[in-house]
Amino acid sequence: MSSARYWAHPSTVIDGPARIGPGTKIWHFCHVMRGARVGAGCVLGQNVFVAAGAVVGERCRIQNNVSLYDGVTLANDVFVGPSAVFTNVLTPRAAVSRKHAFVPTSVGRGASIGANATIVCGTTVGAHALVAAGAVVTRDVAPHALVAGVPARRLGWVCRCGVPLPRQPARLLACTACGDRYRVAGAGAGLVALSDPAPATTPPARGAARAAPPAPRRARPPRIGSGRPATAAPPSARRRRPGSRSRGSRPTSAGRP
Ligand SMILES: CC(C)(COP(=O)(O)OP(=O)(O)OC[C@H]1O[C@@H](n2cnc3c(N)ncnc32)[C@H](O)[C@@H]1OP(=O)(O)O)[C@@H](O)C(=O)NCCC(=O)NCCS
Repeated sequence: MSSARYWAHPSTVIDGPARIGPGTKIWHFCHVMRGARVGAGCVLGQNVFVAAGAVVGERCRIQNNVSLYDGVTLANDVFVGPSAVFTNVLTPRAAVSRKHAFVPTSVGRGASIGANATIVCGTTVGAHALVAAGAVVTRDVAPHALVAGVPARRLGWVCRCGVPLPRQPARLLACTACGDRYRVAGAGAGLVALSDPAPATTPPARGAARAAPPAPRRARPPRIGSGRPATAAPPSARRRRPGSRSRGSRPTSAGRP
């Protein structure tokens, strides 16, 4: 199923009108509910579900097997690793409807959620934060925080480019990879960038509709962990494209950005 604006694999189901931005690619066996909003230039890997009340910003990468339920809002440039889990009910019961009480979750601009991480609802993952693989986020994550573990605790800070920042007590930090500089605003407030944001790696498609997810909520202050160091070595693994595919399943030129 394709339109001039976006491309979706024929195995994907899009229920009725949904707002899907130009240049977005939706791979095998996805389900986008009527009314869902997906910004321009996104990639949804295999078996991704987007509920009617979920919002996906622009240029997001959602890897295989991720469900974005009602109340989940991803800002622009968010990466969600394979099989990461979002939730929208804090105390679920099969026999008691909680549909009136969905609890929202926000992920800020440029943030990344690692593979198999679980984001408990009612939390905000701050802009450019990095949630480690397998972490369980139960409290807000400060902007640029690198959190890991169950429950997730802050290990250090991470640059906009994704590289952990050197661990040092100084209030000013500089990225060893890209040179971006930051001021530590506080454990809960995260980092404030002292240099201009780097341009987005994938420019929005021409005529891209502006999806404008709400600013991150800050309902609960983050609980900061031991402050254990994160090494400066960047993860070297190459990011795999979602939805491993054969030659035959490449998108056609129709709908490509
Ligand atoms: C968190 C992460 C960024 C840390 O990478 P790093 O800076 O290279 O860190 P290191 O591997 O040097 O590990 C530093 C410490 O954190 C621990 N650690 C690393 N990853 C962890 C994780 N996911 N959960 C808990 N602890 C973790 C290490 O065991 C190590 O602890 P130690 O000092 O006691 O030995 C990385 O491990 C990670 O989880 N990346 C996400 C990968 C992912 O999900 N990608 C999705 C796309 S496929």
